Amino acid sequence: MKEVTFILFLSVLFFSCSKQLTKKESELFKERGNQIVQKTAEELSGNLMSKMKEGGIPLAVEYCNTAALPLTSKVSEAEKVTIKRTSLKTRNSLNEPNEEELKVLKKYTSQLKKDVSPEAIVEIDHSGKPHYYAPILVEKKCLMCHGTIGKELSKQADSVIKSFYPNDLATGFSDGDLRGIWSISFP
Ligand code: HEC
Repeated sequence: MKEVTFILFLSVLFFSCSKQLTKKESELFKERGNQIVQKTAEELSGNLMSKMKEGGIPLAVEYCNTAALPLTSKVSEAEKVTIKRTSLKTRNSLNEPNEEELKVLKKYTSQLKKDVSPEAIVEIDHSGKPHYYAPILVEKKCLMCHGTIGKELSKQADSVIKSFYPNDLATGFSDGDLRGIWSISFP
């Protein structure tokens, strides 16, 4: 019995060691992750801005509501990865963080507090796959939907948002805050 346990222990050890990324691999995944983030962010933001022009915040929020997740899934399929945006304060509860994402969110938050700028990282996740994380920071243009209610975010806009997202926590942010993270799982 002891032997079996030891063999099991060895194979776990071997498995975990063999799953370490080399520096080079890590850099490659980071580069790929950065490209995917750029592509997804451009699509999301471009479509959002044209909806804003067309029909203001209500249409833009409706767009996010119906298109944000399908759009990330579409890019996920095309790139053969899994793309997620998550946050400590989510708007859509489907975007809630898992334990590993929570750790990264907390790490980035404490870095920002110490004036260290958070950077993209690649780690092996619980399923043994390479996983890319990158910070999403709040910019001025986000505040009309994620700022303080009654200030940058009007009460009317907030009630439109709450009608789609009754559990919305994603308000009260300021320029430069950590809004959330990109979380990309490679196959
Ligand atoms: C027109 C309003 C609007 C603007 C402007 C906007 N957002 Fe959002 N944001 C939303 C809505 C609505 C959702 C929920 C999308 C969904 O259903 O997945 C959301 C979701 C998110 C999420 C996913 C996590 C969560 O809370 O569910 C992140 C991250 C995010 N926004 C960041 C930003 C950033 C960064 C900016 C500025 C560059 C921005 N948003 C601008 C409306 C907006």
